[in-house]
Amino acid sequence: MSNPASLFNRKNPFPGKLTVNRSLCADGVGKDTRHYEIDLQGSGLAYEVGDSLGIFPQNDPALVDEILQRLQLSGDEAVTTADGGTASLRHTLTHLCQITATDKKMVEAIGARANDPELKAMAAEPERKEALNAFIEEREFIDLLLDYPDVGFSAVELVPLLRKLQPRLYSIASSQKAHPDSVHLCVATVLYEQRDRQRKGVCSTFLAQRSEVGATPLPLFVHTAKHFRLPEDPSTPIIMVGPGTGIAPFRAFLQERKITGARGQNWLFFGSQGRQVDFLYGPELEQFQHEGTLHRFDTAFSREQKEKIYVQHRLLEQGAEVWKWLELGAYFYVCGDAKRMAKDVDDALVKIAEVHGGKSHEDAAAFVQNLRATKRYRRDVY
Ligand SMILES: Cc1cc2nc3c(=O)[nH]c(=O)nc-3n(C[C@H](O)[C@H](O)[C@H](O)COP(=O)(O)OP(=O)(O)OC[C@H]3O[C@@H](n4cnc5c(N)ncnc54)[C@H](O)[C@@H]3O)c2cc1C
Ligand SMILES: NC(=O)c1ccc[n+]([C@@H]2O[C@H](COP(=O)([O-])OP(=O)(O)OC[C@H]3O[C@@H](n4cnc5c(N)ncnc54)[C@H](OP(=O)(O)O)[C@@H]3O)[C@@H](O)[C@H]2O)c1
Repeated sequence: MSNPASLFNRKNPFPGKLTVNRSLCADGVGKDTRHYEIDLQGSGLAYEVGDSLGIFPQNDPALVDEILQRLQLSGDEAVTTADGGTASLRHTLTHLCQITATDKKMVEAIGARANDPELKAMAAEPERKEALNAFIEEREFIDLLLDYPDVGFSAVELVPLLRKLQPRLYSIASSQKAHPDSVHLCVATVLYEQRDRQRKGVCSTFLAQRSEVGATPLPLFVHTAKHFRLPEDPSTPIIMVGPGTGIAPFRAFLQERKITGARGQNWLFFGSQGRQVDFLYGPELEQFQHEGTLHRFDTAFSREQKEKIYVQHRLLEQGAEVWKWLELGAYFYVCGDAKRMAKDVDDALVKIAEVHGGKSHEDAAAFVQNLRATKRYRRDVY
């Protein structure tokens, strides 16, 4: 909870109004990362740069229809919701339940009803855990329903089988000092093919495809991230590494450092597929550089040449200067993909301490560990 003075929080989300929904990618490039602005007027909500915004999405009504149709239910059935209230099945499936991701409980229930030995064994035997995980990862709930067409559930049986629909977090991409009444986000729309079906990420497509500017209320709350704040001393230099949507909090940092007149130097490493493809906030970042808010700016466009160039390659190229900044007390920030990028950037940092700090590998790793322990190395990765 960020602002105790506000009535609104995760348990009582504020219905924000979407005011801007704009693509940050070129047309027809096969990816869609978007800039959103949401009006917070009347909420009393306060956020700091580095915080995230939680959004409660709605499921795709076409998928809700497909599930209802397959189970021969109308959607008008009254069901008991998780908080003990009563609602129609359609409302419950649209707003309250996770209807995409599959889990062990579903496999168990369908295995039992279909009397399918394979499903039953996967769900029951601990040594089949890996197979179960692979099975679950490749399937949504609708796949199970379609693959086992004789299995049925009544409305009352269906709801307890489904988990609660969770809010999604997004790094805030604006400074409230620059935008007192709104919050900005940078969100990659999750769309992919799996088992010959188009899959849609629940919240990112709710924002991109099923929310109307000025009309659809977005239930939201501020998620405080104390671990990802700017340095308390505004004269401290910062190095920011934010490829892809990882740029979001750094746009907010730059807005904040500009509006507060912070004297600390700012260095940004940004990476994406190509300058003409998905240079997220390219003109704004260049403007920050032009006006002197962004003192150093390195880009890594991964698909503009034969070999991949990523942010960690740029860090290594600039290793001597990065090391100098660290020696001057710079804070080092990383945001974006946790699975590969954050690990590779971490390795690059160790390498820089080895090569430019003259340390053994062990001492360099300890140096980076100490940066973390002293909170000069801050990450928000997902
Ligand atoms: C602190 C924090 C900050 C974040 N900030 C941002 C941000 O600024 N911008 C942003 O865009 N996201 C951000 N995220 C991620 C965001 O919260 C959501 O996880 C993301 O938008 C996906 O949510 P969704 O509901 O659209 O997709 P979901 O319905 O949750 O589906 C996502 C799931 O789909 C599957 N999936 C996705 N792509 C594929 C694929 N190609 N092949 C197979 N399976 C796949 C994976 O299982 C994945 O977990 C952040 C997350 C955290 C925790
Ligand atoms: N946990 C999550 O749910 C999660 C986290 C991050 C991203 N994503 C998904 O990924 C898609 C796009 O996300 P995004 O916009 O943040 O990033 P992105 O566009 O996929 O990637 C940004 C840049 O990072 C590069 N990159 C790939 N591997 C890297 C590595 N190991 N180290 C450094 N850079 C690397 C990419 O290069 P190439 O593509 O050319 O290799 C690209 O140039 C979305 O669908 C998003 O939801 C999901």
